[in-house]
Amino acid sequence: MKVKNICCIGAGYVGGPTMAIIAQKSPEITVTVVDINAKRIAAWNDPDVNNIPIYEPGLAEVVAEARGRNLFFSTDVDAAIDAADMIFISVNTPTKTYGMGKGMAADLKYIELCARQIARIATTDKIVVEKSTLPVRTAEALKNILDNTGNGVNFQILSNPEFLAEGTAVTDLHKPDRVLIGGDLDTEAGREAIQALVDVYAHWVTEDNILTTNVWSSELSKLTANAFLAQRVSSINALSELCEVTGADIKEVSKAIGMDSRIGPKFLQASVGFGGSCFQKDILNLVYIAKSFGLEEVADYWEQVIIMNDHQKRRFAAKLVKTLYNTVSGKQIAMLGWAFKKDTNDTRESASIYVADYLLNEQASVVVYDPKVTEEQILADLDYLGTRSEAENRALIRVVNSAEAACDQAHAIAIMTEWDAFKDLDWNAIYSDMLKPAFLFDGRRLLDRKVLEEIGFDFYAIGS
Ligand SMILES: NC(=O)c1ccc[n+]([C@@H]2O[C@H](COP(=O)([O-])OP(=O)(O)OC[C@H]3O[C@@H](n4cnc5c(N)ncnc54)[C@H](O)[C@@H]3O)[C@@H](O)[C@H]2O)c1
Repeated sequence: MKVKNICCIGAGYVGGPTMAIIAQKSPEITVTVVDINAKRIAAWNDPDVNNIPIYEPGLAEVVAEARGRNLFFSTDVDAAIDAADMIFISVNTPTKTYGMGKGMAADLKYIELCARQIARIATTDKIVVEKSTLPVRTAEALKNILDNTGNGVNFQILSNPEFLAEGTAVTDLHKPDRVLIGGDLDTEAGREAIQALVDVYAHWVTEDNILTTNVWSSELSKLTANAFLAQRVSSINALSELCEVTGADIKEVSKAIGMDSRIGPKFLQASVGFGGSCFQKDILNLVYIAKSFGLEEVADYWEQVIIMNDHQKRRFAAKLVKTLYNTVSGKQIAMLGWAFKKDTNDTRESASIYVADYLLNEQASVVVYDPKVTEEQILADLDYLGTRSEAENRALIRVVNSAEAACDQAHAIAIMTEWDAFKDLDWNAIYSDMLKPAFLFDGRRLLDRKVLEEIGFDFYAIGS
């Protein structure tokens, strides 16, 4: 079967960019991205593509090319479901904050709502594609809902997890390492559905890079990929602490081990800790699944990756306080960067949030600058933690429009996000405008110690 009309439920960091690329590469397929968040949809439809709600290098250009041609953004979820022959579910799957599995299991209520809505609206056969990251065997639950409340319509469920990394989403989507499609390989209808999705990707991905598996392997592979990536970060971060007390340098250690072809050089950068909406939630999910099957050792093994990450964030903040003579009360701390990594405006689970919270508990006066994150978002992130009242957060933290303004009269600077622009700041001028001694804590190993020390900074970088 040839797919002519795609609907994607969820216009977020995954739904928006993935559908923009599918539309760009498949002009004969109509792609409609729908969301219940009207503000988000309005931003996707903003006549000026620079105002789309997600910042990703190259994305505005792709949207400009396809939007209005075969790419549409809408709040009319029912109409898009009705018209589609293939429906991607790309809604959020956060960690549960209540009840059974609280703090660990994935909250699948948004997924279930989508399934019920599809079942209610569909009057023709549909291929339903899990794009969201889901616990293994979710497709079974989806199928159950669809088959039991439907109107005699046939549904095929595929798992097609997304491996894009924020900040490089467009390149990752244009040239994916692999596209993974899980489906029912045992039936003719299942194989046809898989082929239909393979044909969509084949517009620009070579078939060698399209992997087809059974549904459970596909679902579990996504959780596993994120767990392995996060594990590398926690491994190198654990060793960064050892470097600091032994005189070894984590950069040299990373290089030395990364040249081993079995290990490889990527994802060996020590930092203040990983963030983002996925790593923590997906590992917690894996831990929860292992626990629910009684696999305690498996669960403990993976949980340690998160314990280490939390430790790294805390120890960075504690190091700052300790260095500033054990108190930051009333002292101005400039935090450069709030996004969880460079080239994105996504702040979910960003280390900055937790470091800021720690410093605010120590009564610091925190001043934040991030080139892509709004003041509204920064305050919302802190309010969400619930550590203090909204009024207190607003009294203690200030968000400014430039790095220079954040650092003016500061006691210390913390580099939180590895934005390239921070490398090129006029560090001499910044140093002159700070209180002395001028402390600089590089949580991303972005800056050159020698240069900064020559200017006069008291310089600390993670892992050396
Ligand atoms: N962000 C990433 O880098 C990334 C990478 C790979 C996979 N994933 C996975 O993809 C999924 C989506 O992640 P995201 O970052 O795009 O989330 P997101 O929060 O940015 O977007 C999800 C969107 O779904 C919408 N939504 C929720 N329920 C809806 C409903 N019933 N009808 C219509 N719209 C609805 C929300 O309003 C929201 O705009 C998650 O499962 C995530 O784990 C994310």
